[in-house]
Amino acid sequence: MKTTKIAVLVLTIAVALFILIPSLSWADDGGALYKAKCAACHGADGAGKPAAKIPALNGPEVKAKSDADLVSAISGTAKHPAPVKGLSADDAKAIVTFVRTLQK
Ligand code: HEC
Repeated sequence: MKTTKIAVLVLTIAVALFILIPSLSWADDGGALYKAKCAACHGADGAGKPAAKIPALNGPEVKAKSDADLVSAISGTAKHPAPVKGLSADDAKAIVTFVRTLQK
């Protein structure tokens, strides 16, 4: 009897994870988040807008910075015009991972 209950519990958790994981990976889609939250200012390719004093993210300066520096720049604990709203710590990390792909 007890074993059956445990088996049902394990199965329930497995099904719950199966349902949850795709939505979690959606939250980690740094490319989509970048397009939604950053591209308007920094450009889809990370080139920035020098005329508007918006720095490029694909150049050597940002490339030289650590992931932690970039996360704090995005989250507004460092200098950024305003903290980008609605980003979890995981979102910020996913975006930084995407920004790294723009840097050659
Ligand atoms: C409203 C326009 C705007 C948006 C939206 C925006 N940024 Fe910025 N960002 C700026 C400006 C302007 C600066 C320069 C701030 C300064 O130098 O004081 C900056 C600076 C930065 C820096 C520091 C660059 C450096 O050279 O140190 C990073 C990293 C950065 N932004 C990443 C992002 C990311 C990632 C997003 C999206 C989550 C984002 N920004 C959204 C305007 C924006």
